[in-house]
Amino acid sequence: MNQKFENQEEFAGKTVAITGAAGDIGRPLGDEFRRLGGEVFATDLRDTDVPNFTAGDISDPTFVTDWIDKIVDQTGRIDVLVNVAGICPRTELEDITSEEWDLVLTVNVRSAFLTSQAALKTMIAQKEGAIVNLASLAGKVGGLAVGPHYSSSKAAIVGLTKSFARNGAPHGVRANAVAPGIIDTSMTAPAGPDGIEQLKRSIPMRRLGSVDEVIGPIVFLASSKAAYITGATIDINGGLLMD
Ligand SMILES: NC(=O)c1ccc[n+]([C@@H]2O[C@H](COP(=O)([O-])OP(=O)(O)OC[C@H]3O[C@@H](n4cnc5c(N)ncnc54)[C@H](O)[C@@H]3O)[C@@H](O)[C@H]2O)c1
Repeated sequence: MNQKFENQEEFAGKTVAITGAAGDIGRPLGDEFRRLGGEVFATDLRDTDVPNFTAGDISDPTFVTDWIDKIVDQTGRIDVLVNVAGICPRTELEDITSEEWDLVLTVNVRSAFLTSQAALKTMIAQKEGAIVNLASLAGKVGGLAVGPHYSSSKAAIVGLTKSFARNGAPHGVRANAVAPGIIDTSMTAPAGPDGIEQLKRSIPMRRLGSVDEVIGPIVFLASSKAAYITGATIDINGGLLMD
């Protein structure tokens, strides 16, 4: 099925900021916004060759402020912010240290708070804007293959999204999230071939989701087609959880 948005001008003249832009989802997401006419600014801890890229640690408040300021200085706006950056260590529950707990919560939640807080000022001033966050099925059901720090961080993203939705709504700013289930990316690969077969059997659609099937709903939530949607989390999980 074609997941692509048809209106290639949907994001023309719009400034789009994406974190985690070197990753399996962030990188093609940037390509899609560019295809739809957006001016994309990308960041990640890892270096990559995408246009308008700035390397940095998105959990560092100084880096976040500098990055958002730079985007606003350059384009005068920030229309879309997608918080994709995240980590998912596979440490067994009993081996998770308090340092690892803090790291996961800091990278997965505090970063999204900092970028959204920094972008919201400009979005409110321009009376429009859309924030899209990456939650996860694990945040709703508790992860089995992933740790409680990851699940907690993704549950927190749902609450964070609603808070920004409430604060932004009177000013024309929307905030939404997607909650992908089991997607065919390197984050899922550690389950191994047998583990993946087992996972597939547990999914009503009997297959993993594709990256395009995550990107489509993110772009939709960022677009004018979702103009009356805010505070929502869209499940993308092949029927694994029907919430
Ligand atoms: N892949 C899945 O199956 C799946 C399912 C549910 C949710 N998600 C969420 O989707 C998002 C993207 O996942 P992905 O599959 O593209 O993972 P990925 O590991 O390919 O991409 C995540 C990116 O975040 C970057 N990053 C990590 N820590 C950072 C930091 N401190 N500062 C800046 N960048 C940092 C990484 O370098 C990486 O490029 C994550 O938030 C993840 O939790 C993924």
